[in-house]
Amino acid sequence: MVVKICKDYDAMSRVAANIFAAQIITKPGSVLGFATGSTPEGTYKELVKMYKEGLISFKGVTSFNLDEYVGITRSNDQSYYYFMHHHLFDHVDINESNVNIPNTGGNLQDECMDYERRIKAAGGIDLQIVGIGNNGHIGFNEPCDNFVENTNVVELQQRTIEANARFFDSIEDVPTKAVTMGIGTIMRAKKVVLVASGEGKADIIRDIVKGKITPMAPASVLRFHNDVTVIVDRAAASML
Ligand code: GLP
Repeated sequence: MVVKICKDYDAMSRVAANIFAAQIITKPGSVLGFATGSTPEGTYKELVKMYKEGLISFKGVTSFNLDEYVGITRSNDQSYYYFMHHHLFDHVDINESNVNIPNTGGNLQDECMDYERRIKAAGGIDLQIVGIGNNGHIGFNEPCDNFVENTNVVELQQRTIEANARFFDSIEDVPTKAVTMGIGTIMRAKKVVLVASGEGKADIIRDIVKGKITPMAPASVLRFHNDVTVIVDRAAASML
C-alpha cells in the first residue's frame, strides 16, 4: 500500500485523476471502476477537464460502478446512476452501452450474479477508485464478520444512513439497502486508488493504514492488495 499525502483536496483530486489519465492513455480500452460520494467529485472534474483539453478519451472505456441504492429509481437525483452521469458521463465521450451501474430495479440476486458475470466478460477491472465511509466501508461493504466475495445486497448501517442523510431532504428518505460489489470484486481489480479528504476521515485512515486488518474495518483489506494507492489530503492524514 502506497500512501500519498497531498496538500489539500484539489491536489488529492489531481493526483487521482492523473492515475486515471495514465491508465486510459496506456490502454484506451480500459475497464474502469468508479465510485460515488463527495470525495471523488474533484477527480471527475479533473477528468472532464482533461477530456475537454483533448488529453484523454473515454471512447473505448468500459465502466463499472461500485454500488447503487435499492428503492430509488435511476432518475432520482440521489441515485448513483444520476450522480455518475451528472459528474462525469454526460461530459465525456463514453459510450452509454459500456456504462455499468448495478440495476436495482428488478430481481436483486439475479443482478448481483449478472454484474459479476459482466465484469468478468469485460476482462476484469483495470483500475478501481474507492472512497471510504466513516466506518471504513468501501462501496457499501459495511463492517461485519467476514470479507464478502462477490456483488451482494446489503442492509446499510445506521452510521452510514446518518452520514448519507445530508444529501436527502430527511433521514427517512435515505435508502436502507444497496447492491454493492463485494470486497472480493474490489480486490480483483488490478489497481486500486483510495481517496479520502478532511479531518473527519483521519481516524479511519489511521485504522486502515496502521491498524489491524479486519472485516470490521473493511478498507483495511486493501493492505493485502499488491497495487493500492491511498491518496489523502493533510487533514485526512493527520493521525498517521
Ligand atoms: C457512500 C458510498 C461510498 C463512499 C462513502 C463516503 O456511502 N457508497 O462509496 O465512499 O459514501 O462518501 P464521501 O466521499 O461523501 O465521504
